Amino acid sequence: MTTFERVQAELAARPRAWLITGVAGFIGSNLLERLLKLDQSVVGLDNFATGHRRNLDEVRGLVSPEQWARFRFHEGDIRVLGDCQRAMEGADYVLHQAALGSVPRSLNDPLATNAANIDGFLNMLVTAKEAGIERFVYAASSSTYGDHPALPKVEERIGKPLSPYAVTKYVNELYAEVFSRCYGVKTAGLRYFNVFGPRQDPEGAYAAVIPKWTAAMLSDASVQVNGDGETSRDFCFVENAVQANLLAALADTEVDGEAGSDVFNVAVNGRTTLNELFSYLREALAEQGVNYDRPPVHGDFRPGDVRHSQADISKAAGKLGYVPTHTVVEGIRQAMPWYINHFRQ
Ligand SMILES: NC(=O)c1ccc[n+]([C@@H]2O[C@H](COP(=O)([O-])OP(=O)(O)OC[C@H]3O[C@@H](n4cnc5c(N)ncnc54)[C@H](O)[C@@H]3O)[C@@H](O)[C@H]2O)c1
Repeated sequence: MTTFERVQAELAARPRAWLITGVAGFIGSNLLERLLKLDQSVVGLDNFATGHRRNLDEVRGLVSPEQWARFRFHEGDIRVLGDCQRAMEGADYVLHQAALGSVPRSLNDPLATNAANIDGFLNMLVTAKEAGIERFVYAASSSTYGDHPALPKVEERIGKPLSPYAVTKYVNELYAEVFSRCYGVKTAGLRYFNVFGPRQDPEGAYAAVIPKWTAAMLSDASVQVNGDGETSRDFCFVENAVQANLLAALADTEVDGEAGSDVFNVAVNGRTTLNELFSYLREALAEQGVNYDRPPVHGDFRPGDVRHSQADISKAAGKLGYVPTHTVVEGIRQAMPWYINHFRQ
């Protein structure tokens, strides 16, 4: 039995109360789906800044009416302390996902990114401290590695941030550690590396590459590659990220760092170039009977982007028992029917 199987069995046997912030977003709604399927009680908080009601509706269709009845939704804003306090009532664990993602968004509007990602984060931590929750698990980011050249990325070695977004995610880690040290709040930061899967938004200027390209391919539009396509990423299927959240929440106390606070890379330890990604998506589409023949169009490199990214996942493996279930290709294959259902014109 894997650690994740054991943790899921433990949760099913003794359900807990969870707060998921950003529950109407991509990762948040995937966490919601898994927790409800494990018969947990869940409160969700979201202000629909980038999330959608349709994500909640979709989860509703994927769980039983009894499971859905264990979910309570608060429309609210993490920048408002009272909204955080109301949502936190009765929670055992917090999975804090709410934030404004995207490096380019933060370059265009650093104030908005700072308000959601730092002020909002601090509100959530203060509320978690008041409520005495079991553990505060939060979405950190691989952007914290910044300009550090070493590959694969190891948690202890980070460089200088390359964008306002990266600053906010690093500040989250600093606050989490200080709250742990000063107030005894147990925290775990998950440095996600390019997560993808169902319910990730393909729309808008700040869309992530996989849904954006797949949507373009399904409308027979051309795919825009930033730079020469040799930029690489450790793409992580969302089910791996869900696993990491549950493991981090339920982990034995001994896994906490000295201050009761720790950060973990969450990815696969793979390295996929954008050119390879383009081929993988085209092949997965072809397997579903959709042929896409246009060549990619290469544009400028994107400011603030790091050239290569790959995670060393041995810390999460050793301390949490994290074992990714999906490689990038397996994740793309699993997600493709969903993309076709939702993005096909
Ligand atoms: N997707 C990735 O590859 C990735 C990588 C690194 C880190 N992250 C982090 O993971 C978390 C989830 O990302 P995602 O990809 O699911 O993005 P998402 O945009 O789909 O989800 C974020 C959710 O937070 C909500 N939100 C934003 N501001 C809020 C506020 N002030 N109050 C309440 N709700 C608010 C949005 O409406 C949205 O539903 C974020 O913290 C993001 O920074 C994601």
